Amino acid sequence: MLTVPHLDDLLARELERFQREHPRSRALAREAQQSLLAGVPMPWMIRWAGGFPVFAAEAEGARFRDVDGNEYVDFCLGDTAAMTGHSPEPTVRAVAEQARKGITLMLPSEDALWVGRELGRRFGLLRWQFALTATDANRFAIRLARELTGRPKILVFNWCYHGSVDETFATLDGEKVVARDGNVGPPVALAETTRVVEWNDGEALEAELAHGDVACVLTEPVLTNIGIVHPEPGFHDVLREATRRTGTLLIVDETHTLCAGPGGYTAEHGLEPDMLTIGKAIAGGIPAGAYGFSADVADRLEEVLPRDERADVGGIGGTVAANVLSLAAMRATLAEVLTDDAFTHMINLGERFEAGVAAVIERYDLPWHVTRLGCRVEYLFRPDRPRTGSQAAAAGNVELDRFIHLYALNRGILLTPFHSMALMSPATAAADVDLHSAVFSDAARELSG
Ligand SMILES: Cc1ncc(COP(=O)(O)O)c(C=O)c1O
Repeated sequence: MLTVPHLDDLLARELERFQREHPRSRALAREAQQSLLAGVPMPWMIRWAGGFPVFAAEAEGARFRDVDGNEYVDFCLGDTAAMTGHSPEPTVRAVAEQARKGITLMLPSEDALWVGRELGRRFGLLRWQFALTATDANRFAIRLARELTGRPKILVFNWCYHGSVDETFATLDGEKVVARDGNVGPPVALAETTRVVEWNDGEALEAELAHGDVACVLTEPVLTNIGIVHPEPGFHDVLREATRRTGTLLIVDETHTLCAGPGGYTAEHGLEPDMLTIGKAIAGGIPAGAYGFSADVADRLEEVLPRDERADVGGIGGTVAANVLSLAAMRATLAEVLTDDAFTHMINLGERFEAGVAAVIERYDLPWHVTRLGCRVEYLFRPDRPRTGSQAAAAGNVELDRFIHLYALNRGILLTPFHSMALMSPATAAADVDLHSAVFSDAARELSG
């Protein structure tokens, strides 16, 4: 671990600069105390590095401008929801056209069929349903898994994140499953709903599944919410084999790992999930989620789901889910924005970003490392790759993280909050990446000095 005796001074200097250069954001943040709970539209926005959030004025492509006129290169990209770049033209055009012809009807549109086919082509699952968010896609997939298996629990990997899904905010305290620190109002003790094992621990996975009470494993194919923690060779085979053998459904959440390629990690690595969930970027930032089923699971579900007057109280779907606006946005985004060529560009830039960071880490001999999944890159404050979420979490350093984020913000770069992650969009340019490398190098020099 790098110890930086002058970190407090550096942080104070950056904080002072941030506050000086963001007077309008600061005033709005103060005013927001009157109309918004805790002064923010969403609870976690209180955690932005400057003490108050930057208020956005407008965004386009890989850039945005704040209400004080500061311009930024955006590597956060809405934590993936804007991985398409902000307001991509095909999506905006489709949304404008569709909005004039209806926004939400509780009726299907032809776009739903096209999107279902396209998701099937990309991910290899045959039948699809739509939601408004990835969180909801996960909730509904879990419910369906319980219904099919008749089992009460789910299994997740320690330090996972799948949106605000109650059952997933579980962690290990020694051998015990407990709620994640900060989990607000859990409905029941998490041990009642969830089994937890460490990522890459095939033995623990087998032992937990052997209880026979797990409906599904819900996992990202690579952990991306606690740094990027890759699977070790063979881990996905163990996971697939153990879930099949125990009659447990495997749900792969590709919401972030879509960054690996047009068909996500699943297509890149030939995974065979029973269900797949996704959201965020697939509609270019318009709220949309989707979840797909293997042929076998789809057939079984069609057998058990009620088709009579009980069909609308199943706890799945919602009035505005699968609305025609989201579907028009998904169609345009998948057809014209998140194309094979776009991914080639984005992944090349991801490699460039990774190389830039690695060179700085080497130059200043920092005990850190950089890791990448497709067009997503992350630096972590430990020398080598973690094997598990717990190891990655232990490398967290709130003060250092805050400094790097503030340092970058003050020099026109937005990183994904709460970890040091960057995402490339089709609109990101090599010069944007090189700006980050230069700023990161300056930060490293100051930290080392
Ligand atoms: C892997 C994964 N799944 C699901 C979600 C939930 O997405 P949303 O908050 O858009 O519902 C997230 C959010 O960060 C995520 O990282």
